[in-house]
Amino acid sequence: MSTPASSTPASSTPASSTPASSGPTGFAMPRPGPAPAPAPAPAPGHGPAAARTGGATADRATADRATAERATPERATPERATADGAGGKTGTEASEHDALLAPGAILELADDRQARLIARILGDLDREFIGLAPVKDRVREIGALLLVDRLRGRYGLSSSRPSLHMCFTGSPGTGKTTLAARMGELLRELGYLRRGQLVSVTRDDLVGQYVGHTAPKTKEVLKRAMGGVLLIDEAYYLYRPDNERDYGQEAIEILLQFMEAHRDDLVVILAGYRSRMDVFFQSNPGMASRIGHHIEFPDFSLDELMQIAELMLEREEYLLAPAARDAFREYIGLRMRQPRFANARSMRNAIDRLRLRQARRIVASGGPIGRDDLMQLTVADVRGSRVFDDTLATPPPAGHSLDGPPAGHSLDGPPPAGDPLTALAG
Ligand SMILES: Nc1ncnc2c1ncn2[C@@H]1O[C@H](COP(=O)(O)OP(=O)(O)OP(=O)(O)O)[C@@H](O)[C@H]1O
Ligand SMILES: [Mg+2]
Repeated sequence: MSTPASSTPASSTPASSTPASSGPTGFAMPRPGPAPAPAPAPAPGHGPAAARTGGATADRATADRATAERATPERATPERATADGAGGKTGTEASEHDALLAPGAILELADDRQARLIARILGDLDREFIGLAPVKDRVREIGALLLVDRLRGRYGLSSSRPSLHMCFTGSPGTGKTTLAARMGELLRELGYLRRGQLVSVTRDDLVGQYVGHTAPKTKEVLKRAMGGVLLIDEAYYLYRPDNERDYGQEAIEILLQFMEAHRDDLVVILAGYRSRMDVFFQSNPGMASRIGHHIEFPDFSLDELMQIAELMLEREEYLLAPAARDAFREYIGLRMRQPRFANARSMRNAIDRLRLRQARRIVASGGPIGRDDLMQLTVADVRGSRVFDDTLATPPPAGHSLDGPPAGHSLDGPPPAGDPLTALAG
């Protein structure tokens, strides 16, 4: 029941929201400017990864994973693959090869290529992500710290690599997977990751069913993630205290080893609900101690969900007529209180449903149509949703979702009276 995390390239998003002009560190970040001169192409083997999707089950995480693995390489143009031509070196490695600056030398941050790159990524983040102010602040902080470390290196000042393993907690659909992909990109731009690709997995991708299956499975995933970000969705399912013969523990131990031994070449991000993650960390202090950043993703407000929906509609070149806009606000208010609400993902699914109803209406009308008709979503399209149906005060039966794909006749609106396409043909 998932919608791809970020299938739209960043460059196609409209400008909006606040520019990233200064970070919470008080560190003045230049405003996003024109793209810097292209960096040299990455060294062989250090370039963007080709899309890879494993043999996976048809679940939500799989859809996320497929998209995530696709999303990052698409964005990873050779120009953006390296921040300073360091191509795959870690922060400290890269600075070792630069000529050291004299102690009295002054760096102009506004002219610094990396500072500009970071500012651009943060600017994109601001435009593409509605709300999430605390998340953006943390990302800005991390970006600023890593940049300062790189700058310190240029003066020969020591800058040990900080722990970059992270934990993203929050409700479904709050943007964790999407941000993890962006984090890979940011860390690659800064030279902290060679490739910056996102590999998104769940327990089933790591843990085997039989003795001897888990280690090769986990290691295969880790191999794919090297040089990038490994996102483990609902990581707490790796640990099942009720079953002492569970192989999850074996996966955790391998992960811990890699997180320590390959901390220069791999960033692990654990994602899931906050309360379950807290319990997981209590039982797995080794994991807790390796996580450097805990980032909490808040639920979206109604206004933010409306903005997210409008951003999605704008990208897809659809328009809500003014009355339809009011109806859609009402829809969101109702949907938020109903079962299996999943924040921004529910907006994505609602839009998919709207498009279905619009298409059904247009085809059923059989009349002449123009460009505007193909773009316009009407009040009737919005109100056709089952979410307006009073009977939904009680949860739908198991296996049914309010915003999953339509099965048979739509859960989200009345079944069409006869197939309009057949009607047209006849
Ligand atoms: N702040 C935001 N602004 C705009 N769109 C967003 C925002 N957050 C998420 N989205 C969109 O919502 C959808 C779901 O996001 P994503 O998959 O990243 O959520 P998630 O937190 O990983 O969910 P889950 O916990 O279910 O895995 C994606 O299409 C994403 O682009
Ligand atoms: Mg996710």
